Amino acid sequence: MVKKEFVDNLFSIKDKVAIVTGATGALGSAIAAGYGLAGAKVILTARNEVKLLQIAGDMRAAGCECAVIAADPVDEDDVRKIVKFTVDTYGEINILCACHGFNAAKGVLEQSLNEWQKIMDANTKSIYLLAKYVAEQMVKQGKGGKLVITSSARSKRGMKGYTGYAASKGAVDLLVQSLGCDLGQYNIQVNTFNPTVFRSDLTEWMFYDDNVYQNFLKRLPIGRLGEPEDFIGMAIFLASKASDFFTSSNYAADGGYWGN
Ligand SMILES: NC(=O)c1ccc[n+]([C@@H]2O[C@H](COP(=O)([O-])OP(=O)(O)OC[C@H]3O[C@@H](n4cnc5c(N)ncnc54)[C@H](OP(=O)(O)O)[C@@H]3O)[C@@H](O)[C@H]2O)c1
Repeated sequence: MVKKEFVDNLFSIKDKVAIVTGATGALGSAIAAGYGLAGAKVILTARNEVKLLQIAGDMRAAGCECAVIAADPVDEDDVRKIVKFTVDTYGEINILCACHGFNAAKGVLEQSLNEWQKIMDANTKSIYLLAKYVAEQMVKQGKGGKLVITSSARSKRGMKGYTGYAASKGAVDLLVQSLGCDLGQYNIQVNTFNPTVFRSDLTEWMFYDDNVYQNFLKRLPIGRLGEPEDFIGMAIFLASKASDFFTSSNYAADGGYWGN
């Protein structure tokens, strides 16, 4: 029979070292707090240091163990710095949860190549760099690890004005499927979860525009748009022992949107 101890510890991330990118954002700050409250040691990273320090202050006041490093995940040297800082601070890396992202929704005839490339770099190149250097460290440690990447329900559904965003997230889905193949032999699991719209500074207006909101609900059997907290359980599952058999996958986290 399955042992009680196995079941008790399935979802535990206590004392694991987790890097959370985009930790100043709606999702990143929620997941960083979720990991911290679940007992992980959390490295919060994003570009805005002032905001990072505020969020870390709130987390510490709630009893979480955390440290911050301001860095740009699109910059290769900065990504190396995040890895070094984490190892210097907590000795190792067990979990990466990538929660940063960028969009500038614009039609193909209006958007410049530079702006399109900025979206691709922020959402795709950054994931390649983080996965590469975090996995390199995990392989050195020899204990496996978890790469949890935020993609989007848009990765498999195009939309007007989304040639950059949808393409960048579609690329992330396949990048992750391939990373799982490269890293399986090292017991490193790599997955995306793919949310539909949830509340953030950029999307809050959708919750108050009745036409837009009702339109979304037609394809959302769950009957509401998301909140950042809705994804903490998924982020813990994909970072814990409970997901040891799960890799190279893109998990719907979308209130049923992909199914409809
Ligand atoms: N909100 C939604 O409805 C929704 C739906 C599906 C998927 N997602 C995905 O969920 C993740 C988090 O979204 P969110 O709504 O929490 O976003 P958010 O509140 O706008 O936060 C975005 C985060 O990414 C960082 N960031 C912004 N522009 C960047 C750039 N050009 N390069 C690198 N980092 C950048 C920001 O930090 P700094 O500026 O401090 O660096 C911030 O921490 C993203 O991957 C997003 O694509 C969101």
